[in-house]
Amino acid sequence: MQYSDKVMDHFMNPRNVGEIEDASASGTVGNAKCGDIMKVDLKIEDNVIVDAKFKTFGCGSAIATSSMATEMIIGKTVEEALSITNKAVAEALDGLPPIKMHCSLLAEQAVKAAIKEYYEKTGRLNDENKALFDMLEEDPH
Ligand code: FES
Repeated sequence: MQYSDKVMDHFMNPRNVGEIEDASASGTVGNAKCGDIMKVDLKIEDNVIVDAKFKTFGCGSAIATSSMATEMIIGKTVEEALSITNKAVAEALDGLPPIKMHCSLLAEQAVKAAIKEYYEKTGRLNDENKALFDMLEEDPH
């Protein structure tokens, strides 16, 4: 299996690893089949993600995509972050082997789970936007 240099870099030197003590919201998701787990903490100020940290108990592709996903969402509004798909994260890493694409879904789901919690906490989850979080119910495999 061939991994891009960027995947290897983000796997060997993951960015934004850790936890945010006073996080605005957190999302934890797991993949039932491989057992991998990912937690993302977000610090949100004025609707902008000012910090993001993750902890991933999982494979190299899951770690690399978590690292890249946190880099991509810092500085974005929550709505912009919601529109970042796992495919966009994988592309930013110069691609993932097809059988590893599901690993990148875990990062997208963790970010979405955290933003869903933020919407719930701030009373913004409603009938119109709740469909944005439907993919949290999807099986990543
Ligand atoms: Fe489980 Fe990659 S094998 S997330």
